[in-house]
Amino acid sequence: MNITGNTILITGGTSGIGLAFAEEFIKEGNKVIITGRRADRLDAIQKRLPEIIIKQSDIADATQRTELAAWITENHPDTNVLINNAGVQYITDFNKTVDFGKVHNEIETNLIAPVHLASLFIPHLKGKQNATIINITSGLAFVPIALMAIYCASKAAMHSLTMSLRYQLRDTGINVFEIAPPSVDTELGHDRRQDKTQTHGGIPVAEFIEDAIAAIKNDEYEAAVSHAAGLRAKGEELFEQMNSRFSH
Ligand SMILES: NC(=O)c1ccc[n+]([C@@H]2O[C@H](COP(=O)([O-])OP(=O)(O)OC[C@H]3O[C@@H](n4cnc5c(N)ncnc54)[C@H](OP(=O)(O)O)[C@@H]3O)[C@@H](O)[C@H]2O)c1
Repeated sequence: MNITGNTILITGGTSGIGLAFAEEFIKEGNKVIITGRRADRLDAIQKRLPEIIIKQSDIADATQRTELAAWITENHPDTNVLINNAGVQYITDFNKTVDFGKVHNEIETNLIAPVHLASLFIPHLKGKQNATIINITSGLAFVPIALMAIYCASKAAMHSLTMSLRYQLRDTGINVFEIAPPSVDTELGHDRRQDKTQTHGGIPVAEFIEDAIAAIKNDEYEAAVSHAAGLRAKGEELFEQMNSRFSH
């Protein structure tokens, strides 16, 4: 993908990977629009980066997804890249009472929203130069951490979906990427950590972004970054080893 001169919509740009992508793509000479639920974050980011375009939007809400697509088409018709990045990660322990509200929100945010946004944006993207959809999945798409059962299932589904989307769109001029991050030090899962100063762990966001941008630039349509590549290669072989580190 030519990484200059695009208009890029990034869902979930108020922290972590989405925000780091936004900063990097601005540096590379793109127009960038970010979304998120937290208005205070969006405002603070715009103060720091006046060129960024912000849009408060909850992608777990179907009406807001439709409104977002209409707003983009009207206000930023030059948008040619959609990055489905927003995501949430919860613990789902089937040995306890499962919070079905959380299950629903996790699937809606991580899977249904990207499906809906892709379907809303494909007609708009067709015919655009350098038209691209980038889905952010996870190394956990290839081997689950059992305690994050729904999260991992949503990411495995996103991996499968991305393959199908890429195949279906092969003659449309829309390129479809999957970027599978390894564990990256962001706010993901922050709400469940009792000690809010505790970090997520994982590699620094800057290191991940450098590798992810290189993959996008080199048209690596399926890129498992850093140790996610090991999970991609060995998949379920690693299940016992990975899960012995997590207890419930
Ligand atoms: N960090 C990792 O180790 C890791 C590993 C593999 C994959 N990933 C994936 O990378 C993506 C980004 O995660 P991250 O690590 O950067 O975590 P993060 O720092 O928690 O960022 C998540 C972003 O998603 C947004 N978001 C969540 N729910 C939303 C909703 N309903 N509507 C709109 N925006 C929403 C958040 O914004 P608001 O809260 O303001 O809405 C935030 O900007 C996710 O898809 C995640 O699954 C992360």
